Amino acid sequence: MRDERTPLPDLPERYAVMGNPVSHSRSPAIHRLFARQFGDHIDYTAIEVDLDGFAEAVRRFRSTGGQGLNVTVPFKLEAFRLADVCTDLAKQAQAANTLRFTNDGTIEAHNTDGLGLVRDLARLLGVGWRARGGPLLSGKSVLLLGAGGAVRGVLAQLLECVPEAVVIANRTISRAQELVRPGGLSAMRASGFQDLAGQHFDVVINGTSAGLKGEAPPLPRGLFATGALAYDMMYGDRPTPFMDYAARDGAAIISDGLGMLVEQAAESYCFWHGKRPDTQIVLKALRPGS
Ligand code: ATR
Repeated sequence: MRDERTPLPDLPERYAVMGNPVSHSRSPAIHRLFARQFGDHIDYTAIEVDLDGFAEAVRRFRSTGGQGLNVTVPFKLEAFRLADVCTDLAKQAQAANTLRFTNDGTIEAHNTDGLGLVRDLARLLGVGWRARGGPLLSGKSVLLLGAGGAVRGVLAQLLECVPEAVVIANRTISRAQELVRPGGLSAMRASGFQDLAGQHFDVVINGTSAGLKGEAPPLPRGLFATGALAYDMMYGDRPTPFMDYAARDGAAIISDGLGMLVEQAAESYCFWHGKRPDTQIVLKALRPGS
């Protein structure tokens, strides 16, 4: 008998992103552009899931031939817990943004957010920083804003870039303290926002959800060192409140998270299909001038 999860040969393979909210997601457009690069026959949709309905939505999606999912806010922890097998990256983040369903019924979880962020940082920091050789962030000080899922999902990959120092600043300092890992190659500490006054950083990454309320985190002025990069993990049609703050405060390079989204999507595509799409073409198609 035919396994119901295996699609019929003439039907497209089914993928989706699940979240709440999810209607703003660019993931369907990105995956369609990836599929076009390879001539792959893929159906990728956005599915808004009730806050208490994630496990059931995944079950339904699988039973109707779904082969893989991207998972976004607020379901990444639940996706990790639902999986039978997890990659090291998912284990490090204790969260999953990518699920793969195998024909024997296994759910495999992966997390591509950290790789996506680091690839996009490398694109933005460019030749000047990388010409030194060595890890991307060596000798640099990094300020991470927030201590929720977004920051947890990328912390391990950032530490692999061996920054000299990492400060995690959060409204609730105890949550930032939970993320500090002593004894690594980078000096790490937790902070409140106002305690940052008088300090300077080479890379400042906003992983708070303050932007959803149209706000930037309440930061003191003068945080950016000469040549510093300000990066917002959120993205949108207009600059985010954090990007506006960074422009006023003199950051040299300012970016939202669209590049990270494209890069993490490429890693998911590779996890599902075993081939890596060209991300720069897609980023340019989504935002000419990138
Ligand atoms: P996510 O998965 O998007 O990271 P989360 O786990 O709820 O969501 O975390 C949201 C993060 O944004 C937290 O660090 C939160 O700070 P608290 O831990 O103190 O709640 C931060 N955050 C949310 N709204 C904020 C605001 N208006 N100003 C500053 N930080 C904010």
